[in-house]
Amino acid sequence: MSRKAANIISAQIILKPDCVLGLATGSTPVGLYRQLAEWYEKGDLDFSQVTTVNLDEYKGLTREDSQSYYYFMNENLFHKVNIDKDKTFLPDGTEPDSEKACRQYNDVLASVGRVDIQLLGLGHNGHIGFNEPDTFFQTETHCVTLTDQTIKANRRFFESEEDVPRQAYTMGIKTIMSARRILVVVSGEDKAEIVKKAFFGPITPQVPASVLQLHSHVTLVADEAALSRL
Ligand code: GLP
Repeated sequence: MSRKAANIISAQIILKPDCVLGLATGSTPVGLYRQLAEWYEKGDLDFSQVTTVNLDEYKGLTREDSQSYYYFMNENLFHKVNIDKDKTFLPDGTEPDSEKACRQYNDVLASVGRVDIQLLGLGHNGHIGFNEPDTFFQTETHCVTLTDQTIKANRRFFESEEDVPRQAYTMGIKTIMSARRILVVVSGEDKAEIVKKAFFGPITPQVPASVLQLHSHVTLVADEAALSRL
């Protein structure tokens, strides 16, 4: 799964060296980033002109916090390749004023131009980025209160459940849908039911990822376990 998805991202970089990549966190893309870093090491990939925008960030975590997505991206990709750090963007989780943080990120997104390929993982409840069930499809960057299910799912990365931030800044569905292409990566049996709902069920805000059925260029890369209910 990771290698196939990495092939798609690397093809994008090779075809358009100054492309804009929309990136995601979570455990699913870790192998993909490792593969991209390996190909960079081998001399097959050049990130020097690439711009990246990340989907989301926890509100209230510092950049040094090992659970922040800023830290995650540095550890998993940015520190391992020749990307220009000035061309990598995430919502500013350290900004306590939600409105300001979201406005600033929308400005960043407007200034970098259209995302060429947006990478997405899939939450167990069908969330993409941190767009939780019952989200509006017309949203741009906004502040969300995480559902109990997401807090529990992400608890494994923190010392205790109390340490999981309750809020996050995320690109909205409208932002995500404006990307030229979308690449969804999913792995594991525990995602099989939601993959079926998202891609073959009704399009509904209760399953945010179901909106992807309306996008004209989506690629789903998954392992057999995640596809086992289809
Ligand atoms: C997190 C992230 C999402 C990610 C999802 C799945 O909460 N905000 O962007 O896609 O949950 O994570 P994982 O890949 O670890 O299952």
